[in-house]
Amino acid sequence: MANVLIRNGLLVDTEWARHMDILIKDSVIARIAPSIAEDSVEDGTTVIDAEGLCVLPGIIDAHTHYHLVSRGTVTADSFSEGSRLAAFGGVTTVVDFADDDSKSLLASFDDRRKQMRSMSIDYALHQGVYKYREDIAKELAAVKKEGVEAIKIFTTYKNVGYLVEKRDELKAIFLEASKLGMQICIHCEDDAMIEEIDSKWKGTYLPKDHPDLRPSEAEAAAIRYVGGIAKELGISIYIVHLSSKAGLEAVRELRNDGVHLTVETTPHYLFLDRSKLEGPDGALYVMTPPLRTAEDNLALQEAVVNGEIQVVATDHCSFTRGQKLSSNDVRTIYPGIPGTEELLPLLHTFGLTQGHLSLSQIVNLVCKGPAKAFGLYPRKGSLKEGTDADICLFDPDESWTIGKDTIHSASGYSAYEGMTVTGKVVMTFLRGRLIMGDGIYLGLEGDGQFVKGRS
Ligand code: URP
Ligand code: ZN
Ligand code: ZN
Repeated sequence: MANVLIRNGLLVDTEWARHMDILIKDSVIARIAPSIAEDSVEDGTTVIDAEGLCVLPGIIDAHTHYHLVSRGTVTADSFSEGSRLAAFGGVTTVVDFADDDSKSLLASFDDRRKQMRSMSIDYALHQGVYKYREDIAKELAAVKKEGVEAIKIFTTYKNVGYLVEKRDELKAIFLEASKLGMQICIHCEDDAMIEEIDSKWKGTYLPKDHPDLRPSEAEAAAIRYVGGIAKELGISIYIVHLSSKAGLEAVRELRNDGVHLTVETTPHYLFLDRSKLEGPDGALYVMTPPLRTAEDNLALQEAVVNGEIQVVATDHCSFTRGQKLSSNDVRTIYPGIPGTEELLPLLHTFGLTQGHLSLSQIVNLVCKGPAKAFGLYPRKGSLKEGTDADICLFDPDESWTIGKDTIHSASGYSAYEGMTVTGKVVMTFLRGRLIMGDGIYLGLEGDGQFVKGRS
């Protein structure tokens, strides 16, 4: 593989942003210095002038569902399509999920890992745990040994078999996972509360009703519930896709009570509100938890700015327009939207154009934060000598409008269509290899590697 010298760019790490040159050799970052002369590097080194560009660590989307088989269908973006759209967003690593099938956890993990061999960017895996088993300690140890750093728990979706209902069973899973040093990621919505609302519901089941059927209070209640278990056990937990101000209040209470939580939110809970659910295309914006109010957006934005939220990931779970619009009843609309590709431009626009976040804060939220949470740091999520040369070259000045013709998701739409953003990914390198440049995708199917946690 040819060596690469990137000159004159603004290197952005979590603590600093400086004009530095960066030399990539044999797929790792070999050297970072204020100036690396062209005549000092080996013959055949590709030299890139990054004047006016930002040089960021490859972005990590810590929450994706590529090729998710669920509810009798499969999501729109396959592993190769997911990898491709990710490269256009400067994303070089995703953290996806192995479902808890009826088999052992290890067999479920093995299946998912085999399926993901077609990825052309790197990936880690969380292991879903949807039921308690007697030998849970052994089962978790088996997947941990293979490099799985986190488990995924749901407090909802009883109807699709994802809910661990009994508190003592959930507690036992938490305990065993934490003994192994695994991160415990939890989708927080109180299923019983939602069922109760549904049983008394007098309204319609249109997309606009979704936030009332699955209210913020259900998120807050579930956070308090799992936070209570974490407190009893003295362990840490990770809340995925926090969607509401009420949920944030619950996080604050728990933290005041000494519970350690890592919190993730998504661009859609930061920048979209429930008004999107009105009108004939409302189904396109249905995901769980649902979109909330502008006030919730604001509360979460403030929490991102002040550091109460450590990770922004997308929960990319894409369905085609056809799949989404095949029902207008929120009980059967496939939940989820695409998002990996838009993650960085949206955050950059909020951060730099609107003046809320520095580049270093953004790198913390989409590089270091997720890498630390899932045992990938510093190999992923940093610009340190000796680490994987995953690099995103980003033009901070280019202004463009998200539209059908700019997106690469097989879903055929973006929830952010019509939004003008500032900042565009110009080149994406995966372990030193250019996988996207000047709008052309150069990824190789099967070139993505499974990244073991703490490796
Ligand atoms: O609607 C969503 N979020 N779909 C993906 C699955 C999940 O709950 O994260
Ligand atoms: Zn979820
Ligand atoms: Zn998800």
